[in-house]
Amino acid sequence: MNHALLAPSSYWNRGGTAGGRFPTLEGVHKTQIAVVGAGITGLSTALELLQRGYQVTVCEASVIGAGTTAGSTGHLDAVPEQGARKLIKDVGLEDARQVVDLRLKAIDAIEQRSDANCDFVRIPTYQYSERRRDEESLRDDCDAAADLGLAATWSNSIPLEHAACGFTIQGMARFHCGRYLERLADLVVDAGGKIFEHTKVQCPTEKHEPELSAGGGRIEFEQAVIAVHSGYTASLRVYMMIPPYQSYVLAARLGNRLPDALYWDNDQPYHYIRRASSSAEDIYLIGGCDHHTGAGDERQAVADLEQYARSRFDVREIICSWSAEFFEPTDGLPLIGRDATSENVWLATGFSGVGLTWGTAAARLIAAQIHGSKTPLEERLSPRRFGSKHPATMAMEQLPGVADYAERVLPADEVDPDSLAAGEGCVGMIDGVHTAVCRTADGRLHRRSPICTHMGGVVRWNPVEQTWDCPVHGGRFDAEGCRLYGPPESDLETP
Ligand SMILES: Cc1cc2nc3c(=O)[nH]c(=O)nc-3n(C[C@H](O)[C@H](O)[C@H](O)COP(=O)(O)OP(=O)(O)OC[C@H]3O[C@@H](n4cnc5c(N)ncnc54)[C@H](O)[C@@H]3O)c2cc1C
Ligand code: FES
Repeated sequence: MNHALLAPSSYWNRGGTAGGRFPTLEGVHKTQIAVVGAGITGLSTALELLQRGYQVTVCEASVIGAGTTAGSTGHLDAVPEQGARKLIKDVGLEDARQVVDLRLKAIDAIEQRSDANCDFVRIPTYQYSERRRDEESLRDDCDAAADLGLAATWSNSIPLEHAACGFTIQGMARFHCGRYLERLADLVVDAGGKIFEHTKVQCPTEKHEPELSAGGGRIEFEQAVIAVHSGYTASLRVYMMIPPYQSYVLAARLGNRLPDALYWDNDQPYHYIRRASSSAEDIYLIGGCDHHTGAGDERQAVADLEQYARSRFDVREIICSWSAEFFEPTDGLPLIGRDATSENVWLATGFSGVGLTWGTAAARLIAAQIHGSKTPLEERLSPRRFGSKHPATMAMEQLPGVADYAERVLPADEVDPDSLAAGEGCVGMIDGVHTAVCRTADGRLHRRSPICTHMGGVVRWNPVEQTWDCPVHGGRFDAEGCRLYGPPESDLETP
């Protein structure tokens, strides 16, 4: 059976996922806690709740492994995305230490839950620059990382030919993120949890949501945890605080042999490298070239990444390449806790490029809060922290984003669908109607409305993933307009 995967060509998804073993929810299903989304966040949350004695049901819109977790690069680290110095400046030393501690504990939890199949290996990271003039700044970063409790030391021998200076941090890790999801699913089932696949859950809207439609039926619950990676809430505020970005990865066979470590440079956006697995010493994952969703040239980004890799390493073969989305919180911290609009709905999103650790940390924090415990950084991470604005004000603030994209379609040129080659798509006028049109690899033409079913953004063809992407909040539809992922709840309409 074909499953809708977010990154079908990712290194972990080649050959498909192991998902598809759980039923679709039909009829009325009652549970104490509904977890929506079976990525690392949802499955870890289910496990944490089961361990605290709750009755838990996980609903996954597609299959286990369909989401971003299996489109990631499986780095496990606790280095602040914004840099240690900036984090300390933003939140103070004590809270910055807590941020790091939460992610260090998440790595420990992943290690403890992994079996041999997950290929979990503790390795160091290297953070480096290709420019000698960055040394002073990197030395400050190294000191700040050590202040935060990371085992950071200056290195005079970064094991990359193109690195000019940098530092190392011990005790980080890599793993096989696809197999880890299978392992988590097994642990959830063993602990008495229920999992449904092909069970998309409706977005919560109520102040106290008692039930939601799910798959072919509905789910009734006391509490619901939304762990779908993107925002999926009635709160406009949340969407505004986590703009969507796209990141690119390639798996390459190299003539080089790099010591087993995680490598990051200090470019903006940065590039990252790791060995793919313990068994294949010559295959590496190389990533970077991020851009705001819908605001970059996807084909160019892939070409740039390949050029980056070829100019620094002895690339013998590109095995596969893919891209996926992440959500960058505007204040640098994820959104974890009670949803801004519902009393019994919990949210975990805005993980930037480090959601494997944040998603695991979120699971522990949300489970503890549901259980009535106070947790570290509860207010700082709360989705409610952005203050309350009148919905009309929020809508006005959203408008420029939507209008900007809408402009692309309103004065659109006529499109001749016959001129589209396989794999191409665009938005334009066909017979006087605004249309998103693409031709799939099998030569078939697909025409849909270009208006995103979430809040009216105008979708844009992504030739790399063969998807329609909405630049406003990162919703994604397949070539035929079926909702794959993100805030939209329904498919693109007929034009
Ligand atoms: C290219 C790339 C590389 C990355 N590399 C790393 C890395 O090396 N280390 C790191 O820490 N982080 C990394 N990240 C970030 C990390 O992958 C994500 O933050 C993390 O995987 C999010 O996990 P999740 O469980 O929250 O979401 P997902 O894994 O996306 O899972 C969410 C699930 O929810 C399901 N779903 C969606 N809508 C619904 C619905 N309505 N009903 C039911 N189910 C639904 C989806 O199908 C999906 O399976 C990377 C991100 C990108 C884009
Ligand atoms: S308008 Fe929100 S995802 Fe498209």
